[in-house]
Amino acid sequence: MNIRPRRNRKSAAVRNLVEETNLGVQHLIYPMFLKDGSNIKEEISSLPGNYRWSIDLLLKEIEACINLGIHTYDLFPAVDDSLKDTVASYSYSEDNFYLKAIQKIKETFPDITIMSDVAMDPYSSDGHDGLVEDGKIVNDKTLPILLKMSIAQAQAGVDIIGPSDMMDGRIGYIREGLDQKGYSNTSIMSYTAKYASAFYGPFRDALSSAPKHGDKKTYQMNPANKREALLEAQLDFEEGADMIMVKPALCYLDVIQTLRESMPIPITAYNVSGECAMIHAASQKGWIDYEPAVAELLLSIRRAGADGILTYFAKDFAKFSKD
Ligand code: PBG
Repeated sequence: MNIRPRRNRKSAAVRNLVEETNLGVQHLIYPMFLKDGSNIKEEISSLPGNYRWSIDLLLKEIEACINLGIHTYDLFPAVDDSLKDTVASYSYSEDNFYLKAIQKIKETFPDITIMSDVAMDPYSSDGHDGLVEDGKIVNDKTLPILLKMSIAQAQAGVDIIGPSDMMDGRIGYIREGLDQKGYSNTSIMSYTAKYASAFYGPFRDALSSAPKHGDKKTYQMNPANKREALLEAQLDFEEGADMIMVKPALCYLDVIQTLRESMPIPITAYNVSGECAMIHAASQKGWIDYEPAVAELLLSIRRAGADGILTYFAKDFAKFSKD
């Protein structure tokens, strides 16, 4: 044998020398849930270690996470049912606690990056990402609502707008609308290849945002399709997205790789709530070892080609990679 691959694995130093993929806290975006009020820290039962926070406690938590090296956060509002309506008007209302909280976070920690979510579902009495008319999700009438929401978020100080709704044409519509209002420096990370997945359950529990009727298959992508992700990516790129996302991550590593090889802008992946819940459930049963499983899972998403990863494991990973 003149070729022995094991020689390149013979010590930690050699292994580290030839390591092809790196993973660090700088690659992670931490999704967090916000609730109106004070002194609230409610655990989300299907997402252990993740909470609905009121702004006072969230500020403390963010400070702790900054000290662990996490500098990018994606925030989601848990809105009281009484504030939901068919047109998601609370999403851009002056009294919206989420917008006020974002403002407060940016004032307190001006150097961190705050990403927001643009879609109607957390604010919609129908629980859909777009406007519902006669039981159908209508595309073009949804766009002005998404734009109002985006402008309100940009005004609150959001660094990266995250349209997660999958309506056609929304990236261009939002980009143009933001620019007209003078927010040309506000970035857009498009949920480009967002699949109609069975892995969003714990997130919908966290926000009580599950659809009241039907499913999301007329706007989210069919899990069977990969070439269609290229079409979505091409459109988002041409419409002005700064970064494009694949979601979920684990069942779609091939899609991450394809987009990474074909597109000239950064690719991110959303390691979604159901993926996180599976790891927690198996490790609680003692069937897998939590820390190495999390590290391997995040590494696989990087290896597939993701530049950034949205993950509920961000804080735990930051903690154990520091030790
Ligand atoms: C809403 C939205 C969802 C997620 C992020 N934004 C749920 C959905 O589309 O139903 C899911 C995130 C997760 O499961 O972690 N537009």
